[in-house]
Amino acid sequence: MRLLTTLILLLIALLATAQAHIKSGSAILFGKSGTYPRAIRLSRTSLLGTITEHASGNSTITTVRSTDNGQSWTPIGTVTTEISAGEDVDNGYPHQMPDGNILYAFRNHDLGNSVGNDPTHYHITLYYSQETGSGGQDSIIRTSTDSGKMWAALRAFTGQTTSARNGMLSVAYTAPKSAIKLAIFESGISGAFKVYVVRSPNDGAMWDPERTLLHGGDSFNTGAPWIIRVGDKLVASCTTNEDGGEWPTGAMKFDKTTVHGLPAMWTSMILLDDKSFLALYESGGTSFAQMYTFA
Ligand SMILES: *[C@@H]1O[C@H](CO)[C@@H](O)[C@H](O)[C@H]1NC(C)=O
Repeated sequence: MRLLTTLILLLIALLATAQAHIKSGSAILFGKSGTYPRAIRLSRTSLLGTITEHASGNSTITTVRSTDNGQSWTPIGTVTTEISAGEDVDNGYPHQMPDGNILYAFRNHDLGNSVGNDPTHYHITLYYSQETGSGGQDSIIRTSTDSGKMWAALRAFTGQTTSARNGMLSVAYTAPKSAIKLAIFESGISGAFKVYVVRSPNDGAMWDPERTLLHGGDSFNTGAPWIIRVGDKLVASCTTNEDGGEWPTGAMKFDKTTVHGLPAMWTSMILLDDKSFLALYESGGTSFAQMYTFA
């Protein structure tokens, strides 16, 4: 019940902020001819982003950078490129280590995606969605205490009791220095993906088995969710085709706000400061960043 109470309070908090946020300026170009826009903060004004570009038969994980706190973005380099017909390279995510080095995680199916395969490419992230065959995915946590040299055994924490696809995981702490974490993900069987939240009271060591539906219905898809904490508010976003669009294309929404209507896809968010954030989305083959500020 405590979980439900917490989440209900959370949802009320989210709803309470429905009137308070203000769209700041128009959408900023994040990555031309790119998709899966994601970003992290490196320092006070410097942000590092990534997109996947599909051009000349190659799939390329490209980095983009902003040195003005997200107001403009320029390409800086390539993490990896592969011939699209031969290898799957997509959905990158940068992670900065305490020593300043940057790891890049990205999707790769070289070793297949069925049960028993162990694609090491996945294991540089702490949280990821693992293919379990026939459309299924589980949410996985792995931890390393030596900057990624050694990793504890993987643990599935959502999806292991269903054959549904529990995918596109995003995780946030509920408050500074809190041990409470929320993980948001899409889950679906037979087409209707919905977005759920689960909670860990102790920094991911254990997860409550109860999941709470955040958004979704049986006649449309809601997926590609993201969660960030902006000051004292938690903001959850998703892509949904409840108003039209051929999945996985839909509109990007958070709370009751539409960031971008049809077509938008592969959405994420990045915190700018304790009042503002960027909502990232691809639309028509180009990735954009839209800033929001809480009044
Ligand atoms: C495509 O990827 C292959 C394999 O990494 C690389 O050798 C080639 O240079 C790439 N082509 C382009 C146009 O980037």
